[in-house]
Amino acid sequence: MTGKRAADQGSTCPFERICPGIPRNILILTTIAWILGFLIGQFQPIPEAAAQQAKESSPELYQKIYTGWKFWHVYCYRCHGVDALGSFLAPNLRESVKVLTDEEFFKTVKEGRIDKGMPAWATLLDDEKIRDVYLYVRARSEGILPPGRPDETQWDVPKNWPQGHVATKTSGAAGIAPAPETLSVKGDPAAGEKIFFDTQILGAEACANCHIAKEKGSEVGPVLSKIGRRSPDYIRESILKPSTVIVSGFETTVITTKDGRNITGIKKAEDDSSVELATADGKLQAIPKGEIQQTITSKTSLMPNNYSELLNEQQLNDLLAYLLTLR
Ligand code: HEC
Ligand code: HEC
Repeated sequence: MTGKRAADQGSTCPFERICPGIPRNILILTTIAWILGFLIGQFQPIPEAAAQQAKESSPELYQKIYTGWKFWHVYCYRCHGVDALGSFLAPNLRESVKVLTDEEFFKTVKEGRIDKGMPAWATLLDDEKIRDVYLYVRARSEGILPPGRPDETQWDVPKNWPQGHVATKTSGAAGIAPAPETLSVKGDPAAGEKIFFDTQILGAEACANCHIAKEKGSEVGPVLSKIGRRSPDYIRESILKPSTVIVSGFETTVITTKDGRNITGIKKAEDDSSVELATADGKLQAIPKGEIQQTITSKTSLMPNNYSELLNEQQLNDLLAYLLTLR
């Protein structure tokens, strides 16, 4: 196995050809880091189940993780190190995926952080390939996959893996397979539609005060006309824990004016003279730049976070059933 790995290594990254522009001494240091990483890897415990079993029990997932590993070795390994452990060139991604949301991971891989030495991969890797790499890194991070080549080590794909972790909310966006639909949606869409639009039920917290569905409502938050394409779990979490992840472009902005007022809303426009915020009451407010003391982006969603109290289980299911009809 060692021989095969070493041979693999040579063909992936012959120094001058594949890695031009990187000083040779850095490459030599990387190689040393790789060998150390490999040796350390040898001492990690290996699960009982055989790779064959992983292949048989979850062939699709197995294939994705294996493909992810291959891309890893071609594109990421030389900086992020063997088994995603990191090197002095780039961070340990096994730790990163515990902190980064799926969305942040995808964005970073696509756009890179050029000024910090992380290349952009959008032209080489499409979403599906990035997802495979992501699954590979997560399998490593969560200890599902022991060190080494996935087709040579013993491992098993646990049932229902991967579960959303930091950001189940973006799982749909990133195309990570959501957990099997554990949730059976037994709601009544017509009752749900009423909850969405009728201010007699939720008052100022009615969804339509901030969202458009079927061309009705107010556009403070994202338009929900196609939200039914997302998984029920995703939608449910978006309603019950809106601040877990904020939909990009809908961050909450808090502006403090020179006369001491705080205005909170979603930034809809900005030019040389003013900033326009959509506030929770559905109104647009233009604030002249000359009056602004301070602008802060908050980590809290503008969407109310108390729907678990405002709605009972039945109402929540009705609402969910309605949202799932929006495609
Ligand atoms: C040329 C070296 C290099 C290569 C090749 C490379 N990266 Fe990076 N990557 C970096 C550096 C350096 C950083 C740290 C950037 C920073 O400081 O913010 C980084 C950061 C990242 C981060 C963010 C980590 C965090 O904790 O914020 C992700 C995710 C990532 N890389 C994924 C990848 C993937 C996937 C590949 C392969 C497709 C890849 N990288 C290939 C150098 C590289
Ligand atoms: C005060 C305004 C406001 C109200 C009321 C509101 N939302 Fe939101 N909602 C937002 C904002 C802003 C976002 C985007 C920020 C975020 O991700 O939390 C959002 C995000 C969402 C998302 C995620 C959309 C996506 O594209 O991923 C869903 C789903 C959602 N809301 C459903 C609802 C439902 C259902 C209700 C009624 C029970 C509701 N919202 C009430 C402001 C609101």
